[in-house]
Amino acid sequence: MNILVTGGAGYLGAILCTQLLESGHKVTCLDRLFFGSQPLQNVSNKIKILKDDIRWFSPTILKEIDAVLDLASICNDPKNELDPKKTLEVNYQGRVRVATLAKKHGVKKYVLASSCSVYGYQEGLLNEKSPLKPQTTYAKASALAEKKIIPLANKHFSPTILRPTTLYGPSPKMRFDLTIHKMVLSLIRTGKIPLLPDGKQWHPYVHIKDTTNAFKIIIKSDPELVSGQIFNVGDNSQNIQIFKLAQTIAKAINLPFKYEWYGSNDNRSYKVDFNKIKKTLNYKIKHTIKDGAKEVYNAIQNQTINADDPRTIPVKWYKKLLQTPSLRKELEINNILL
Ligand SMILES: NC(=O)c1ccc[n+]([C@@H]2O[C@H](COP(=O)([O-])OP(=O)(O)OC[C@H]3O[C@@H](n4cnc5c(N)ncnc54)[C@H](O)[C@@H]3O)[C@@H](O)[C@H]2O)c1
Repeated sequence: MNILVTGGAGYLGAILCTQLLESGHKVTCLDRLFFGSQPLQNVSNKIKILKDDIRWFSPTILKEIDAVLDLASICNDPKNELDPKKTLEVNYQGRVRVATLAKKHGVKKYVLASSCSVYGYQEGLLNEKSPLKPQTTYAKASALAEKKIIPLANKHFSPTILRPTTLYGPSPKMRFDLTIHKMVLSLIRTGKIPLLPDGKQWHPYVHIKDTTNAFKIIIKSDPELVSGQIFNVGDNSQNIQIFKLAQTIAKAINLPFKYEWYGSNDNRSYKVDFNKIKKTLNYKIKHTIKDGAKEVYNAIQNQTINADDPRTIPVKWYKKLLQTPSLRKELEINNILL
């Protein structure tokens, strides 16, 4: 297939593009390259990279594309949000634009990388029919985009919403703002894992390769099964309480389990039901939190990942880009950075 991946040079995109190329697909990556193009350097001779923006790219690039995997977004730190207006512009209007243009230009399949963050924090096991209670602009933008994109489904255009939960696992474009990665790094650097009380908060996690697998399954699936559908991406076995998560990580990387409480009581807790994707598409995860923690630990120790690279904390990096004229200039398109 001829596949366009937006945000293909990002944490998830770099692994997804590489795997799609390995499976024999032709891949075009459309990305602002806010974090550079080096995450795709190992496949640079096989992939077409377009430095462009989902808000204003020319739709001619959609000619002859069979599927669009829409991953581009401004990611977010709930405690430290970037400009909410820009987040909505990219993550809501930008993604709706991609889907609308894809339909108009005869693309058959479209997959949106939404997120389980649209559920917010609620009691019980949340499934695709649960009410959405997004808490941040990032989550609200995804919820709004989903609502506009699903009704685009018709017999020629098959849009699907994937809601992965928080990811873990190494990538050439690493993120150390993700919980499991933060915990591994903090055990290495300080010998302790900082935890918000009371440690009983539930949260689901999923390995990056189990997430890319979900995208690959959707593009192969019969539109009858996936068109206009929403699927949570993960597995019920990986809903875990934070204290247990920290213990699991220390054990996996074979370091003494030490922790310290910080901040006040955290009521951000939720559990997700991942049975729909399992039952409908026979989706099964292959990786555990233990595997992922070990992989990240090894990648830090053997320096295939540079944990000191400022680009590994996206919101901090975006702020630095905005404040540093030389970096800004390099990345601006039509004099616009964000
Ligand atoms: N990482 C997670 O834990 C996680 C969990 C659930 C869902 N997701 C979703 O998966 C997708 C990818 O996330 P990620 O972790 O790889 O994030 P990331 O920040 O590593 O990658 C996003 C990419 O999008 C690009 N981008 C940003 N704005 C753009 C624009 N206007 N036009 C073109 N490109 C632009 C960036 O340059 C970057 O390469 C996102 O949609 C995110 O919401 C991620």
